[in-house]
Amino acid sequence: MPDQKAVRRVVDIITGTWQAQALYAAVAFGLADHVAAGDVTDEALAARTQASPDGIRRLMRLLTAMDVFERTPGERTGEAAGSDADGDTPGAPRSGGYRLTPAGELLRADSPQSMRDMIRIYGEEFHRAWGAVEPAVRTGTSGFQHAFGKTLHEYLRDPQAGAKFQRAMNAGNVFFPDVLDAFDFTHCRTVVDVAGGSGMLLGTVLRAHPHLRGILFDQPHMLPVARTHLDEAVGRGRYEALAGDLFEGVPPGADVYLLSRVLQDWDDPRCTALLSHIRAALPESGRLLILERVVPDDGETLLPLLYDLHLLMAAGGRERDLAGYRAVLASAGLRLESVHALSLETSLLVAAVA
Ligand SMILES: C[S@@+](CC[C@H](N)C(=O)[O-])C[C@H]1O[C@@H](n2cnc3c(N)ncnc32)[C@H](O)[C@@H]1O
Repeated sequence: MPDQKAVRRVVDIITGTWQAQALYAAVAFGLADHVAAGDVTDEALAARTQASPDGIRRLMRLLTAMDVFERTPGERTGEAAGSDADGDTPGAPRSGGYRLTPAGELLRADSPQSMRDMIRIYGEEFHRAWGAVEPAVRTGTSGFQHAFGKTLHEYLRDPQAGAKFQRAMNAGNVFFPDVLDAFDFTHCRTVVDVAGGSGMLLGTVLRAHPHLRGILFDQPHMLPVARTHLDEAVGRGRYEALAGDLFEGVPPGADVYLLSRVLQDWDDPRCTALLSHIRAALPESGRLLILERVVPDDGETLLPLLYDLHLLMAAGGRERDLAGYRAVLASAGLRLESVHALSLETSLLVAAVA
């Protein structure tokens, strides 16, 4: 007799991607926005999205079971025993339609906390990259390279793809405000956000500390989105957006360097190279703030392990354990000074000159 619990466990795992793709379909059809705007029945949603009514009904039924939507009570029906075609119990309040759950709210386009763009890239590019998990693990070359014939960074040079990726990174940055509690910026004057992407982290720090000035440093094609965000968040006078290559050097002389979700994209020799440039730019009393997931020693906390393999699929990079961060920092003349837990199992690693 097969172990029923073990069978169930395997079935739960292999159907996990279906839940992710159903969520992706919800975003692709804009279902949360339509429900919020008043299209709350299967029929209205099918008409609005011009999708198959049967397909929408089945998708919505699954998303409701996944706690993305919930049914609203309608008027009572007087049917006899047994369930009706919708699965509602006769005599019980009949579904009047759908409304959003807190998870569903995060799918809306107009929500400031929207995770829509993250769901989109996970359901499209990253889903395709994960399709190449077997050759990626066999060769150590990213799944993205196998699936798309180019690296993720090459792919992101396309302005549309780059903007889509930046929006996705923004949707996954709920831990940025935690940095303000974990590190005291009061005695600092200048902050450089190395490979700062869309400027969300720099904007968070500058907004909280009006005495600070900032430099957003990234590749030229990433700067327009960053400028738009920082102009709005803190105004033109408080920051500069500089284009450059972090493997050639970084702007010198700031008190604090930020390095968020960057080391994860690169192997150890590349990390040593880019950290050496930051070491060369850092004053003796300066600090480097690294935001990454740290793989815990227990080998059991799933999220960092999932992201570790995801980084092999996406950029060909990796998550590291603390020993791994200490080693790459030491190879560049830096030392790990302290570690602070942030939301979503992310950490702030504060590094200083060794
Ligand atoms: C994963 S994103 C992180 C962005 C941002 N720090 C955040 O946490 O949202 C990696 C960033 O590294 C930048 N990047 C990649 N290669 C680079 C290079 N050679 N020079 C400068 N920036 C680079 C990308 O443009 C992208 O903005």
